[in-house]
Amino acid sequence: MKNELVIVIDFGGQYNQLVARRVRECNVYCEIYSYRTEISVIRDLDPKGIILTGGPASCYEEGAASCSGELFHLGVPVLGLCYGAQLMQHMLGGKVERASSREYGKTKVHLDTSSGLFAGIPEDTTCWMSHFDYISKTAPGFSVIATTDHCPAAAVENKEEGLYGIQFHPEVLHTPEGTKMISNFVRKICGCTGDWRMDEFTKDCIEKLRERIGSGKVLCALSGGVDSSVAAVLLSKAVGQQLTCVFVDHGLLRKDEGDEVEAVFGPEGPYDLNFIRVNAQDRFYVKLAGVTEPEEKRKIIGAEFIRVFEEEAKKIGAVDYLVQGTIYPDVVESGLGGESAVIKSHHNVGGLPDCVNFREIVEPLRLLFKDEVRKVGLELGIPEKLVFRQPFPGPGLGIRIVGDVTAEKVRIVQEADAIFREEIAKAASEFRDTTGKDPSWMPDQYFAALSNMRSVGVMGDERTYDYAVVLRAVCTIDFMTAEPAQLPWELLRTVMTRIVGEVRGVNRCLYDVTTKPSATIELE
Ligand code: XMP
Repeated sequence: MKNELVIVIDFGGQYNQLVARRVRECNVYCEIYSYRTEISVIRDLDPKGIILTGGPASCYEEGAASCSGELFHLGVPVLGLCYGAQLMQHMLGGKVERASSREYGKTKVHLDTSSGLFAGIPEDTTCWMSHFDYISKTAPGFSVIATTDHCPAAAVENKEEGLYGIQFHPEVLHTPEGTKMISNFVRKICGCTGDWRMDEFTKDCIEKLRERIGSGKVLCALSGGVDSSVAAVLLSKAVGQQLTCVFVDHGLLRKDEGDEVEAVFGPEGPYDLNFIRVNAQDRFYVKLAGVTEPEEKRKIIGAEFIRVFEEEAKKIGAVDYLVQGTIYPDVVESGLGGESAVIKSHHNVGGLPDCVNFREIVEPLRLLFKDEVRKVGLELGIPEKLVFRQPFPGPGLGIRIVGDVTAEKVRIVQEADAIFREEIAKAASEFRDTTGKDPSWMPDQYFAALSNMRSVGVMGDERTYDYAVVLRAVCTIDFMTAEPAQLPWELLRTVMTRIVGEVRGVNRCLYDVTTKPSATIELE
C-alpha cells in the first residue's frame, strides 16, 4: 500500500527536519527533497501537498535558492514557511524587502481564523520569528491572514489556488499552535486522511523483510542503542534464527548496561535470534592505556570495535545481509535527501561494511525519525528502558573520561552516572505524580563524566586527593545547540552527597553550566 505523501522542499534552513517531523506527527508521511530536485521528479511523486522550508538567503538576490514556477501550478496545495513564503511571493509578483531590523524570537501574532490554515486556533497567539526580509507587497490574488507589530503580512493565502505562506516558524515549539497550523494544512487543505501509522508500518515492514530475505542469513551489530535494537527485533520477527546479533561490550558502557542488553536479546530474552556477546573490555583498556588526545581515543575505540567485530564475522562466515540502523535524519544529513549536508564525524559502527563478507545492506529504519523508531520499538514490545534510552555515543564512556582511560576511572564514572540518572528519574517521577506533567527542568540528555582533575578535600579528619566528577544535563531540540538544564538545587545537592559518599575516589562534584556552543555536550 502506498501512503499519502507530502513533500518538504528544503531551502537549507535550520528547522527543516522539524517541519517533516511535525507533518509526520499528523500521521501524514512526508519526505524531504532539495530545492534542486527537478519538477518532473516532484510531479511523478504525486504529492498531496508541498511545503517550502526556510532558508538562509534573500530570495531577491542573484543566485538565491529557487524552484520551478510550475510548482505553484501543479494543482497541489503549497505552503511556504519563512524563506519559502517570501520566495512564493517574490516569484508570483509580490515584493520582498529587507526590514530595518531583524525580527527574532517569540512574537505576538494576530490571525484571521476564517482561513482554513488557522481554523480552530485563537485569534491572538504567539509565534517564533526569525527573519531579516519581509513581504512588503502581497502577490496578486493573495490576501493577508496574519499580522504582527512589525510584519504587515505575517501570513498570506490565495485560497482559490491553494497557496499559503507563513512568515514565522510553525514547526518550532515556541509557536504553540504551530502543529495545529501544519495539521490544518496537511489534513484539511491537502485532504490527507492520516494513513501513516506506526502499527501498520511495523506489520508491513516485517512482512517486506520476510519477503526480501527469504532463507538468507542476516548479521546485525547490536549496540543496545534504540536504533540497532529496534532494527534487530524487526529482523528477528521477520526471519528468527536466520539473524545473528553481535554485541561487543567494549567496557565503556554505562553501569550494568551489558547485562541489560543480554537480558533482552540473549537466550533468556523474549526474542528468537542468535545472540553473541563479546566481552572485549580488556582489549580496549590495553589499547587506550596512556592515550589522552580525544580524537585519538575516538579512533582507537572505533578501530578496535571493527577489529573485534571482524573476528566474530569471520567465525560466522559469509552472510547475505548486513543490518544497518540508518534512520531518516542520517539520510537527510548525508546529503541524499535535503539540503543541509551536515556530516558528523561521529563514530558508531561506521566502517563495518568493509570488514564483513555480505551481499546486501538492509536498513529497515531508513524512512523513520527517532520518535517514530521509538514508537515502532514500543509496538514490538521492547522494554521502555531501552526504547527511551538517552543518546549514548559510540565511543561510550571513553569520551566521558577526560584524559587517559583506566578500568578504575570507568568504575568511578559508571557509579557516579548511575546515581545521577537514578536521582533525576526519581525527582522527575515525584514531580509528575504531584503535578501530572513533566518538570520544566527535565533535561534531554544527562550523564556524569570524569574530569582529569584531582583536588584536595577532607573526609572525616583525613585529607583526600581525589577526582572531580562533572555532572552534565542539557535541554536541546536537535543536539546542535544546547542549554544547561536548570536542575533544582535540592536535586543537585542530593546527587552530590550521594556521589561523594558512595563513590570511592571522588571528593568533588561540579555542575557544568556551559551552553553549546561554546562547549559540546560530551566532554571530548
Ligand atoms: P556533542 O558532544 O557533539 O554531542 O555536542 C552531540 C550529541 O551527539 C552525541 N555524540 C555521539 N553520538 N557517536 C554518537 O553516536 C559519537 O561519537 C558521538 N559523540 C557525541 C552526544 O551524546 C550528543 O547527544
